[in-house]
Amino acid sequence: MVDALRRDGRVRSDAVARAMGAIPRHVFLPGSTVETAYADTAVVTKVVDGVALSSASQPSMVAIMLEQLDLHPGQRVLEIGAGTGYNAALMAQLVGAAGEVTSVDIDEDIVVAAAEHLVAAGCPDVVLVTGDGALGYPAGAPYDRVVLTVGAADLRPEWVAQLATGGRLLLPLRVRGSQLSVALDLGADGVLRSASVRSCAFIRLRGAGAGEEQVVAIDGRGWWAEPAEPGAPLPNATSMRAALDRPGAEMQLGVRLSVADVWDGLGLWIALAEPTAFRLLARDAAAGSAVAAELVEIGGARATIAVPGVGGFVALVQDEHGGPARIRCHGDVAPGVGARVAALVEAWVTAERPHSADLQLTAFPREQSTSAAAGGRVVGLASATLLVEYPRARVG
Ligand SMILES: C[S@@+](CC[C@H](N)C(=O)[O-])C[C@H]1O[C@@H](n2cnc3c(N)ncnc32)[C@H](O)[C@@H]1O
Repeated sequence: MVDALRRDGRVRSDAVARAMGAIPRHVFLPGSTVETAYADTAVVTKVVDGVALSSASQPSMVAIMLEQLDLHPGQRVLEIGAGTGYNAALMAQLVGAAGEVTSVDIDEDIVVAAAEHLVAAGCPDVVLVTGDGALGYPAGAPYDRVVLTVGAADLRPEWVAQLATGGRLLLPLRVRGSQLSVALDLGADGVLRSASVRSCAFIRLRGAGAGEEQVVAIDGRGWWAEPAEPGAPLPNATSMRAALDRPGAEMQLGVRLSVADVWDGLGLWIALAEPTAFRLLARDAAAGSAVAAELVEIGGARATIAVPGVGGFVALVQDEHGGPARIRCHGDVAPGVGARVAALVEAWVTAERPHSADLQLTAFPREQSTSAAAGGRVVGLASATLLVEYPRARVG
């Protein structure tokens, strides 16, 4: 597993390779086969009412985040989302006997199981806590690193307050509908600046930091919308449904798009410029419909990015066999909306198709005002204002 992660560039440093080589993943997944434990997939370990509440993250994601975290012997780490305890064990290996790892999970049963796994793997020194990680764990502060292995939609002041100056906060953060693994370094001025950004897909935080429901049903047939801005008003469900059933004029774009382009590359680029943009998702029966056939396949569903206008919306589509993308108008949306999105696609191509790894994020405490720098977009979170930039590209 580690050799493959090295070959794929997920594991980059000897320290992470050594830690992943030393900690047996199967010990943290007693209900799985050894083949499953060492495959490069996430393993869901707790499901309630059909919703996955806990998992062992995909090994390549674990490796990417450990590299982003840049741990050193002697450091103090707070993890939010103990899960199986596997990542905590890896971090304990990286900080060594002089360091300390504290890991919090919201569910008692998960913490009890993680404790058993950690003892079985020979890492009894990890401090495990049952609690809501939205509040951090002030008793162990300050930390050199605070890491979430569960998705957040805000930069909670508790996490920043418990971080030492110069320390790093690493978390899967939702930015305009894309989940990004962002490593943020805390400056003496209280501002967090990103050291690296990657794409990711994590289970969402429960408890006090859960934030608003993000995916809303358009109809009972399996069509859903995920607004770029959580809680943003969508065109009403009746008009969306009517617009879905009325695909109309199309504009050719001449670019081919991958899932990563639609989600975190071009998708995020469009959502940063068009805050009312939404991810359009077709699941179950809807995923098999003719309208959904031209959306991209993502985790068993089909999806795309869409921008609403009066009377309907426009959506990026592409034929099933990977032909060039098009903008499709739905309902009576004004042609100007499609033209605006086409201009954004052109600007993204001119900027050499930037992705999440090309992003730079700066987070200011909510009370500090900030103005959009040239080439940047401002995204308001509940507790922070994010300046989102593509430093090597010109944003249209
Ligand atoms: C993807 S799993 C973490 C994987 C884990 N790091 C591992 O190595 O196995 C996400 C975990 O976050 C936990 N979680 C969700 N909301 C939480 C919260 N508010 N505070 C602490 N843990 C939370 C879930 O119970 C779940 O176990």
